[in-house]
Amino acid sequence: MAVIDAVLDRLLDELLGLGRLLSPLCSLSVLLQLSALVVLLLLSLRVVCLLWSHAQFTRRLRCFSKPPTQNWLMGHLGEMRSTEEGLQAVDQLVRTYSHSCSWFLGPFYSLVRLFHPDYIKPLLLAPASITVKDELFYGFLRPWLGQSLLLSNGEDWSRRRRLLTPAFHFDILKNYVKIFNHSSDIMHSKWRRLVAEGESCQDMFSHISLMTLDSLLRCTFSYNSNCQESSSEYIAAIFELSTLVIERRGRILHHWDCLYWRSPEGQRFKQACSVVHGFTRTVVQERRAQLLHRGEPESHTDTTGGEEEKKKKRVADFIDLLLLSKDEDGHGLTDEEIKAEADTFMFGGHDTTASGISWVLYNLSQHQDYQDRCRAEVNDLLQDRKTEDLDWEDLSSLPFTTMCIKESLRLHSPVSAVTRQYTKDMAVPGGRVIPQGSICLVSIYGTHHNPEIWPDPDVYNPMRFDPENSKGRSSHAFIPFSSGPRNCIGQKFAMAELRVVVALTLRRFRLTPGGVEVRRLPHLVLRAEGGLWLTLETLEAPQD
Ligand code: HEM
Repeated sequence: MAVIDAVLDRLLDELLGLGRLLSPLCSLSVLLQLSALVVLLLLSLRVVCLLWSHAQFTRRLRCFSKPPTQNWLMGHLGEMRSTEEGLQAVDQLVRTYSHSCSWFLGPFYSLVRLFHPDYIKPLLLAPASITVKDELFYGFLRPWLGQSLLLSNGEDWSRRRRLLTPAFHFDILKNYVKIFNHSSDIMHSKWRRLVAEGESCQDMFSHISLMTLDSLLRCTFSYNSNCQESSSEYIAAIFELSTLVIERRGRILHHWDCLYWRSPEGQRFKQACSVVHGFTRTVVQERRAQLLHRGEPESHTDTTGGEEEKKKKRVADFIDLLLLSKDEDGHGLTDEEIKAEADTFMFGGHDTTASGISWVLYNLSQHQDYQDRCRAEVNDLLQDRKTEDLDWEDLSSLPFTTMCIKESLRLHSPVSAVTRQYTKDMAVPGGRVIPQGSICLVSIYGTHHNPEIWPDPDVYNPMRFDPENSKGRSSHAFIPFSSGPRNCIGQKFAMAELRVVVALTLRRFRLTPGGVEVRRLPHLVLRAEGGLWLTLETLEAPQD
């Protein structure tokens, strides 16, 4: 079917171009008619193949419960919505089917939706060699992120993962904690100023995503963008790309490359990509040149300390580490590969962490008792200190704050689902088999809201993560960072940033609800419609 699609794509492409060329000259050329006939034949062949494979999948997926559909052909097309109501529909599915169900997006895609730890465990723990990232959910990211860790498969993925893993070792990550402190300081200064001017009700999402981008730009490129204070073309392009990917997913006609790249949205996507790629390519090439010139990468100066400190400390950023990484045969990553990975870190690392932090603050604004307890924990930790900076070692001394963060990642997981295809049939409990080629939609949201696993799933209760209460819980009940070989490579980075930002925010501000109704918006990450508004009250540093 892929071959027919490719030929069709090509022909349609040619046809569209030819039509435009010939239309001023004559109404319909013979050539055009012939091409149209071939396209018609290929289209018919495509439809027959589609119906045949749909019938096969329908038969093989009978072992899974199938929620009611309007008819056999269209299945559940249009029923999966990225809205508050869409999430409530998932709650209903989980209550009704408790572990899994089949799902058909017309005759085009056959899915199994899974929301129970026992069902998702064998899928997420399956070897990466038989796991494929499907094109429906990941393909639209490819023009932006290229063949990077997130999107690659098989041996190519294994090689990249081996090369990238050392960059996320805690010896490296501990150097970034200073950056997290510094970016939080900038955001908090801005908040103090806004509160003093009477603008105490603020959208957490917009402030925090700029702050996480600021941190990532420093950790990845050693680039001080000043993006929290002034606008930047690069940042605007990143926001634009995230929005366009979601829009494209929702428009079935735009799934076809030859239509999308001709549309105004496709043109905007190209433009934003060229800004982002241009930036990354320049940094990588400059660093490579420095490396060749000096024999070692030019590590960036730590700009967060005083003048003396600046001279002493040199911190390696992700680009430095990727330029130096070598596989067993002594081969490193090419400039294009490094560019793809850096773009992926920027994509995978900023919105997810911003979503995580924003929802923790939201949940704590709803529960002043938990907020006070976290604040007391942070103040205790920092008492008698000269500065408010947190160190890597401090992060393990915030057990209650960490429980609050985990409970928020359960209730409001930034990533709602991951999808997979497998190159062979996959067995799940109850003697059921997921046929090769169908899409497995592992619902992180559904698993985290499954009442069989989490009693009163909609209640925010950090005590669920008290070590005593976690005993006996399935290893796959809590999977905000996915699990298995293709889990999130940046999870330690993210958890460190979450702890630093949440701790410093609670020490400096009291948060209360912003008085605006919150409706969840599951886009690439979980957001809130119209923003997540909270009211800030500036707190004086406690006198020891
Ligand atoms: C709260 C923050 C974060 C959450 C909730 C999160 C969640 C996830 C999830 C669920 C996956 C699996 C995706 C899939 O299978 O399709 C993933 C993969 C990934 N994440 Fe994260 N992430 C976070 C932060 C980060 C950060 C900070 C970085 C980098 C700096 C990062 C880089 C990546 C990469 C490169 C992958 C692909 C890994 C692979 O396929 O081998 N993430 N993340």
